[in-house]
Amino acid sequence: MEDKYGLIGAPIAHSLSPAMHNFWFEEYGISGDYRLYPVEKCDLVQAVSRIKEARVKGFNVTFPHKTAILSLLDEVDEAAEVIGAVNTVVQTGGRLIGYNTDGIGFLKGLQRNFPSFINKRPSILVIGAGGAARSVALTLARAMGARVDICNRTCSKAVALSAACGAYSDSDALKFDQAERQLDRYQVVINTTSIGLNPDADHSVIHLNRALPGTLFADLIYSPRRTAFLREAERLGHPVMNGLSMLVYQGALAFQKWTGVFPETVKMENHLIKMYL
Ligand code: ATR
Repeated sequence: MEDKYGLIGAPIAHSLSPAMHNFWFEEYGISGDYRLYPVEKCDLVQAVSRIKEARVKGFNVTFPHKTAILSLLDEVDEAAEVIGAVNTVVQTGGRLIGYNTDGIGFLKGLQRNFPSFINKRPSILVIGAGGAARSVALTLARAMGARVDICNRTCSKAVALSAACGAYSDSDALKFDQAERQLDRYQVVINTTSIGLNPDADHSVIHLNRALPGTLFADLIYSPRRTAFLREAERLGHPVMNGLSMLVYQGALAFQKWTGVFPETVKMENHLIKMYL
């Protein structure tokens, strides 16, 4: 029988994770079947105990369960504990162990697409202070010792996240207009807000005209392939990166935790673009 894997969350119907993991299972001759398990917020406890009973070998976790699941696991990796969110769970010997591969997934995408930025230990601005921002900002601050400033609509959340990043590097909390005025301080600007998911959103979340030439602009969204934020950055002549590399690398790191194999990622990105995006 094939080993069982999957994704829990809601809504998840449009997730590319089954296509990605099932492609890799076939590619590497590993017996596995990755499925979508829609789980509403109120059904998480029951779903986790069913997953244990069904001996699902590994699963991903997405909205709205990334934080709530922590207390239901037998063990949580230290980085995931610091981030306060889990996106990958391994079941071994009847125990559930939680990890977070989102932030490292973003970092690996950055390393592959723009290696020169990593070597320079850039000053980074993260826009947004939600769950995705926490994974990315804390990973970049911890792994690179990079200065990571946070700007967010709700200021108190920016203050809390920049304080958490401050444990690893200098970090500041900013309002949108402050961030706009001092955009020339940053080599990398990352939009983690969900605004670009709205098809009617036609304005960049902040004005980008103060950025120095060569500043890299990244967005965690991969569909649409260019949010208004990335379109504006491109119009101003900046290099840009969308969220597809992060999606594929966070998946590859999860796949490695489940199977011991780190799968090929560039081919996967091209496959997803060709088939689904
Ligand atoms: P995720 O897990 O994707 O990060 P989240 O935790 O709900 O989702 O966070 C969404 C982020 O997008 C937050 O930083 C949110 O700002 P607030 O903290 O002020 O709510 C930001 N966001 C969403 N819609 C926004 C909008 N219209 N304008 C500005 N920021 C927005």
